[in-house]
Amino acid sequence: MIERLTFGTIPRKHHIQLRLPGGELAFEECFTQEGFEGPYTIGYHQRAPHTQRLTEAKHGWAAPVDATEGRRLAKRHYKTQDLPRKGCAPVNARTPLLFNADVTLGMAFPDKPDPVYVSNADADELFWIQQGGGTLRTALGDVRFTADDYVFVPRGLLHRLIPDAGPQSWLWMELNGGLHLPRQWRNEVGQLRMDAPYSHRDFKRPEFKGPMDEDIRDLVVKKGQAFHGFRYRHSPLDIVGWDGTVYPWAFPILNFQPRAGLVHLPPTWHGTFAARGALICSFVPRVVDFHPEAIPCPYPHASIDCDEFLFYARGNFTSRRGVGPGSVSHHPAGVQHGPHPGAYEGSIGHSRTDELAVMMDSTLPLKTTATALSVEDPGYQDSFVPPGD
Ligand SMILES: [Fe+2]
Repeated sequence: MIERLTFGTIPRKHHIQLRLPGGELAFEECFTQEGFEGPYTIGYHQRAPHTQRLTEAKHGWAAPVDATEGRRLAKRHYKTQDLPRKGCAPVNARTPLLFNADVTLGMAFPDKPDPVYVSNADADELFWIQQGGGTLRTALGDVRFTADDYVFVPRGLLHRLIPDAGPQSWLWMELNGGLHLPRQWRNEVGQLRMDAPYSHRDFKRPEFKGPMDEDIRDLVVKKGQAFHGFRYRHSPLDIVGWDGTVYPWAFPILNFQPRAGLVHLPPTWHGTFAARGALICSFVPRVVDFHPEAIPCPYPHASIDCDEFLFYARGNFTSRRGVGPGSVSHHPAGVQHGPHPGAYEGSIGHSRTDELAVMMDSTLPLKTTATALSVEDPGYQDSFVPPGD
């Protein structure tokens, strides 16, 4: 994904013998994407990784269901800060809000560790940690994460999420066509360009300490929006070494180096991660446009081929009233959106913004779940009508 990493003991060539200290043969596992032509990682197990028994899946999250078929087109605002915090593990806590064939967007408020291993065979997953932190434990090592981090879990990777003590609020994204670094930020050999808004050093890589046994044998695999149970006879965290480019990581959003222009720059300048049918952008505190006649507030616009999802994390959102940390705005393609009354003119003369937000533009229209409707702000569309009109 970012660059090739190597940890632990691996043989000098693919597909040759690796003997463990006791003389036993290690089992190679090739973890490939896009058939055998895409990125891959090869790990070496103490025991065969493919000998699980079938069992019942006792954990998983609900598939998204459209609750708004036929609903009229309008700008929408959902207050995720009003969603109930139910005590549960991350594998049960993911709650879909908006979705289409390419992406699912939702929230998770976990308060205990996953009791089983999880593998999402449908999609890459990206979390953004609004509040809290924890450990992403995988067969390839641990990734420690804190508030403000993006956390990436490759599709198909066995893992377990272990939240730290204290409140947790995670924005959650499933990317059915996989996540990648935008092509415009990479050079011909895949390295992040010198002029990209972040570098390889900005990522938190897995920490691999060798095999471990947590006395957990159950795995749930999500495939086709259903969960399937498997049981190991041994700890699946038995890799002695691995190398490759497919692995989990974290990326602190404040490591994104924002751009400012003479006049207002479009959201693509804030593009951080790309996926099939979607671009994820990071809006971080920054200086704003410096033309003497600049209008720093975003101009009204209609991205006719994109639905826009915006998660407000913190700071002062100069263009919007009535939104706060945890608010999600959904501006569907086909309807113009822009600043609230007074914000456009009011932004003139400002030199900085302290807003922090995660945005996704998606090419397919987003559908809405009943959970999102339960926290909808019904007055949002009309809040753009100037007072007295
Ligand atoms: Fe927009």
